[in-house]
Amino acid sequence: MATAKRLDIAVLISGRGSNLQSLIDACADPHFPARIVCVISNKADAAGLQRAARAGTTTHVVSHKDFPDRVAFDAAIDEILRGYNVGLICLAGFMRILTPEFVNRWRDRMINIHPSLLPAFKGLHTHERTIEAGVRFSGCTVHFVRPEMDDGPIIIQAAVPVLGDDTPETLAARVLEQEHLIYPEAVRLIALSRVRVVGSKVIIRDAAPVTGAMINPGLVF
Ligand code: GAR
Repeated sequence: MATAKRLDIAVLISGRGSNLQSLIDACADPHFPARIVCVISNKADAAGLQRAARAGTTTHVVSHKDFPDRVAFDAAIDEILRGYNVGLICLAGFMRILTPEFVNRWRDRMINIHPSLLPAFKGLHTHERTIEAGVRFSGCTVHFVRPEMDDGPIIIQAAVPVLGDDTPETLAARVLEQEHLIYPEAVRLIALSRVRVVGSKVIIRDAAPVTGAMINPGLVF
């Protein structure tokens, strides 16, 4: 039986919820240092809501269409989060821009996952633009949220090769596999108080060192 206090997290989604699922799966382990107290979606038909329901997690739908402006929408979400005394917000495919007021209120207590090696390729249509740019590597990033879109101190990244015959779909699938690994890991590190924001950077206590380089395409001698 795990006895340590677990970090209470809320997951905000807009769609499929595969990253939510990776967090649900991680939290199913009683030794995982965080637990999901609620899932909030801005879309009533988000498939991720079914995932949450299957896991027995409380869900809320807060449609942005029901509010006159972003401030009112964010205030409604904020009220729910405060009701749960949430310690960390995880944006997982949540496709709404949050107001600077909301972001600053949750500074260093809100993280996001984005399917690129930030600060490259912020925004939408990431994989299309990655392939179009001809870069040899892509990946994904978990970062603390700042008012600018897809911006903030980087906690963890995973890199994958971009292959010559990649389509946005094949690249997205390769990246997504890594997203599902690094998002729970970022939450775990934060929940264990191993993550510290210093200026625009994140320092992780007792991080395993990574050495060596990946070269794409590989060198042939
Ligand atoms: C994920 O690939 C996530 O990185 C991306 O949306 C997808 C959501 O998938 N997020 C962003 O682009 C944020 N700028 P999911 O609903 O299956 O987790």
